[in-house]
Parts: sequence; C-alpha cells; structure tokens
Amino acid sequence: MADTIAGIPQGAIERVLEAERARFATHHPRSRALAGRASAHWLLGVPMHWMSDWGTPFPLHLASATGAGLEDVDGNRYADFCLGDTGAMFGHSPPAVAAALSAQLPRGLTTMLPGEDAAVAGELLASCFGLPYWQMAQTASDANRAVIRWARALTDRPRLLVFDQCYHGMVDDSFVRLEGAATVNRPGLVGQVADLSRHTRCVEFNDLAAVERALKEGDVACVLAEPVMTNAGMVLPEPGFLEALRQLTLRHGTILAIDETHTLSSGRGGYLRMAQLEPDFLVAGKAIAGGFPCAVYGFTAEIEQRIRGMLATKPGGHSGVGTTLAGNPMAMAALRACLEQVMTPAAYERMLSLAERLEDGLERLIEREDLPWHVQRVGARLEVGFSRVPPCTGRQSVDALPALLPDAIRLYLLNRGLVITPFHNMMLLSPVTPVAEVDRLASAWAQCVADLRLAARS
Ligand SMILES: Cc1ncc(COP(=O)(O)O)c(C=O)c1O
Repeated sequence: MADTIAGIPQGAIERVLEAERARFATHHPRSRALAGRASAHWLLGVPMHWMSDWGTPFPLHLASATGAGLEDVDGNRYADFCLGDTGAMFGHSPPAVAAALSAQLPRGLTTMLPGEDAAVAGELLASCFGLPYWQMAQTASDANRAVIRWARALTDRPRLLVFDQCYHGMVDDSFVRLEGAATVNRPGLVGQVADLSRHTRCVEFNDLAAVERALKEGDVACVLAEPVMTNAGMVLPEPGFLEALRQLTLRHGTILAIDETHTLSSGRGGYLRMAQLEPDFLVAGKAIAGGFPCAVYGFTAEIEQRIRGMLATKPGGHSGVGTTLAGNPMAMAALRACLEQVMTPAAYERMLSLAERLEDGLERLIEREDLPWHVQRVGARLEVGFSRVPPCTGRQSVDALPALLPDAIRLYLLNRGLVITPFHNMMLLSPVTPVAEVDRLASAWAQCVADLRLAARS
C-alpha cells in the first residue's frame, strides 16, 4: 500500500511523531532555553553541526553521563543505548579510566614523548588483538587516513577499494558510492573538489566476483573494510566472504585494512580475531580508551619490516603521517586502563548476554505483531532493519531504511527515557547496563508499535 511504511500506515506515524514532538517540547524547557542561547554562536546551535540531526524539535542538552545513563539539564534521566555511537561502549567514564586520567591530569597533558604507559599499552594491544606492532592516532578517521597512506607507500599503488555505503570517518578517499557499475563521489559532500573515483574503487559488500575484478587490475593498494557493515543499517558478511576477501587480497598483493571501530562490540580483540583471520592493518577508535579521544592502528610483523625499509630509504622531510597530540600521556593512560581493566572477557560476557536478551525481546515482538522487520546483531550491537529479509549489500540496506518511521520510534523512546542512536537504530549494550533497562527498552518498542497501531485507527 502506497501509504504504508514498513507495515505501519504513514498517517499514524505522522500523528505519533507530532504528539511526541509536542511532548518533548513540554518536558525540556531548559534544553530549549540553552538551545536558544547556543544558536547565537554555534552553527545550527550546536558545537558539531550533525548534533542538530537527532530529530528532536531542538537539541537535547545534557547535565551528565555516567555508567549506562544520561541526565539532561531538565533533570530527565535516560538509559543510554546509543553510548556516544560506540565511544562509551563500556559505559560513560568507566571508573578505571576516570582514575587513570585523574592520576595523569596533574602530571602532564601533552609531551611529544612516551612514558611507561606506552610500553604497557603496546603489550596489551598486541595480546588483545594479536597484531605485534602499533601506532596511535586521535580519532579513527585519522587512523584510517594513516593506514591508507602507509598502504599506498608500501605497495606503490594508487587505489583504495571500499564497499558501497561504507563509512570510515572523515576520510576523503572513502567518500564514494556505486552508481550502476561506476564509482562516483557520494552525493551531499561539502567542499569536495576532487574526483574521488580517480583513486578509489567501490564494489558491493558480499560481492566476491566484483572484489576480484577490481583487484585483478593490479593497482589497488588497499581494501579498507568493516567486517560487518555498521553504518548503513547493519549488513553481515555471508559465510566465507571475509575468508575469501583475505585470500584474494593476499593473492593480488593488496593490503587488507580492517576497521574494527564499531565491531569492537564482537568480543575482546574484535570481529576478525573471533573469526580467526589476520588482516594486514587493524584500526580501532572511539571506545578503545574508554571514550577518551584516542585511536590505534596495528599491523603485522611483515608490514612493520616493509615500513622500516621504506622509511630508511625515502627522501628526508615530512612523511605526512601523524599529528602532534596523538599519543599524549592522557590518551596513553586511558588506553592502558581500558585494555587492562575495562575491556575484559567478563565485561564482554555480560554485554553479549544483555544483547542476546534484547535481540530475543525484539524478535518476539516482530513475530507476534507480524512486522516486516528483522533484527541484526554483531556481539553487543543491535539494529532493527525495516525489511523482512536482512540485506546482503549496503545498497539493499539503505534502500530498506524508511522515511519517518525510525524518527517516530526514536523520539517515542527518548520521551520514555530510552536513548537509541540517531540516523539509524543502533542499540549498544554496555557491561554496566542494568537488565531491567534492557527489558524496559524491549517493552517500550512493543508499546510504541501498539500506539502506532492505535493511531492508525483514530
Ligand atoms: C567504522 C568507523 N570507522 C571510523 C569512524 C570514524 O570515527 P571518528 O569519527 O571517531 O573519527 C567511524 C565513525 O562513525 C566508523 O563508524
């Protein structure tokens, strides 16, 4: 039916959305006042322009974020399943990380030299992820950019291969998409003057034949990929896809860089470690230091040898890889504390069991209500998709993302003290999320469906 969105009448969604906007406005007078004040000096009234995209009538302003909860400036409390879109995957301000930062705070913020924490954190990274060599960056975007540069230098090849609808942060080379068989610049880019398709090729996730065709040209330095696509809804790799990707990259002399920034939710060491596969480079950011700004990239002993050789023979001058503040002692202290005391097997055990519980609750709702939806999960990370069959490619996933309905559901949940991720529907379970809140989230989804059905009859 033309006026039905993912099984729900459009009129009902619009009515619920309108009611929820009014409800939000009533319960957030101080947020409204701060938003008015901030709009005089911040672009769109927010420190980062995308913070205005939450779908609320005006930006929600927070007073604090602790454990798996948030409190806003109006005193409303929330169970947080967005968790800073992964940065706070282990809870807000994990006590061990907060203590390490407090101890470092009066002892230097940035020094351009390492201390003991660097040696220990290197050992911890190697044992956690199984890759022997590491470098620091401040964000996952920076880490991905660095990896692409190393890969091009090591292979003396120009091209990058990414999957359609991927997201790897503020990485110019990756902002392409597939249009028919052609790679083109993504629509919506701001101030991009380069034709990115000159140096990047794009193929569909799970399409091994297309990967092979692209690699056969012999000019691809690097494949940059998430092991599960998590930024276009959620797309899981088909059985054997990642194994074959590894084999193809080895066969064609292409470097495989795996971005585990979001899939750190899979388990200690990330998705590839679970799958017993070894990439050439691995990138992890966001939650790797408990939410303190920090990212890392690791690589094999073979890559380390090649980098050493290349650095020894290159002409002098800037390499163009690295930033001043990355590797600062605060980040090092947070990274060490997180790896040592927060990202523990016990933490993952709890996160995964909570995620299974929520998955079960949502799947039962979908079945009971015969909704044309599905649930995808990678470890502690879940996403509701609005198609009966889970997508195999980024394009299928994006095409199945409906207008309005996700916005209505998110705002409905927010107004009931439950925060899920904006832009899509990601829900993340931290080791400190209370079981009761998991059950409350599943019940609120059910109540939201019931209220949408009620609105359809009114
Ligand atoms: C898979 C992936 N890699 C990298 C990034 C970039 O992270 P940051 O914005 O912290 O640089 C993101 C951000 O969402 C991401 O989802």
